[in-house]
Amino acid sequence: MRFKDKIVLITGSAGGIGFKTALDFGNEGAIVAVTDIDFEMAKKLSNQIISNGGVAEPFQLDVTDLDQTKNVFETLNEKHGVCDIVFCNAGIREITPMLDLEFEDWKKVIDVNVNGVFLSAQTFAKNCVKHNKKGNIVITSSTLGIVAANSRCAYTTSKHATIGLTKQLAMDLAKNNIRVNAVAPGVIRTPLTERYFQDKEVAEKINGIHAMNRVGEPEEVSNAVRFLASDESTFCTGSILTVDGGWTAGKFM
Ligand SMILES: NC(=O)c1ccc[n+]([C@@H]2O[C@H](COP(=O)([O-])OP(=O)(O)OC[C@H]3O[C@@H](n4cnc5c(N)ncnc54)[C@H](O)[C@@H]3O)[C@@H](O)[C@H]2O)c1
Repeated sequence: MRFKDKIVLITGSAGGIGFKTALDFGNEGAIVAVTDIDFEMAKKLSNQIISNGGVAEPFQLDVTDLDQTKNVFETLNEKHGVCDIVFCNAGIREITPMLDLEFEDWKKVIDVNVNGVFLSAQTFAKNCVKHNKKGNIVITSSTLGIVAANSRCAYTTSKHATIGLTKQLAMDLAKNNIRVNAVAPGVIRTPLTERYFQDKEVAEKINGIHAMNRVGEPEEVSNAVRFLASDESTFCTGSILTVDGGWTAGKFM
């Protein structure tokens, strides 16, 4: 029970990685604020954590909305206490050749993946500082925060930004006893990547990007997130933990 009575807020909880991580935090004793833009899914997940014997509360939260973000933290303060851990995980992806990418679509990806992470992290950190409490921020970046790929201009840019943001927040918040780290997953089997696996040829190509010749599972990301959020990583801040089966380790010759 590494997270007994710790209050953990997860954004984008209803998706593959957020969902599994929320369940696992719940199973390890945390009070889980299950947030997503999709409130129906957040409620379902929250009920699942409760039926597993855990404590959870669902919230509708669009990470690009500052007022909603503030309200969620304030409601948590009133009902459960000051949030200990935030997992800034919500993200969207756009696959379009760069020359065809509409500016509106570029802005949408940057808004959710960069502005959304900043708003959740800053609101969380202000709340910790105001209540004189230490804190822990984990951000979901991506291998595409480290290298680029074809036709993912906005996504790659946004995920590189989250790595810069992780390092910057780690520098700014160390004095406040707030650690900030990121996970950089390779391809993980979730609703976001589902369509890769419908075609055998595409699936084989995607497997082959990773040195381990397979994609990852949400549980493998959840394990890394909970390590960074736990007292097993007390000297880690500004760290980028790849969970990518060797994708960014190098290229085969
Ligand atoms: N699946 C992968 O292969 C992979 C790899 C690297 C990084 N990631 C990153 O991991 C994170 C989670 O990805 P996933 O695969 O679980 O995706 P997913 O699509 O399964 O889940 C994303 C969740 O975010 C929510 N969301 C979307 N816009 C939102 C907003 N404005 N506010 C709040 N919630 C919003 C969605 O409703 C969904 O529940 C993302 O940041 C993604 O970029 C995923």
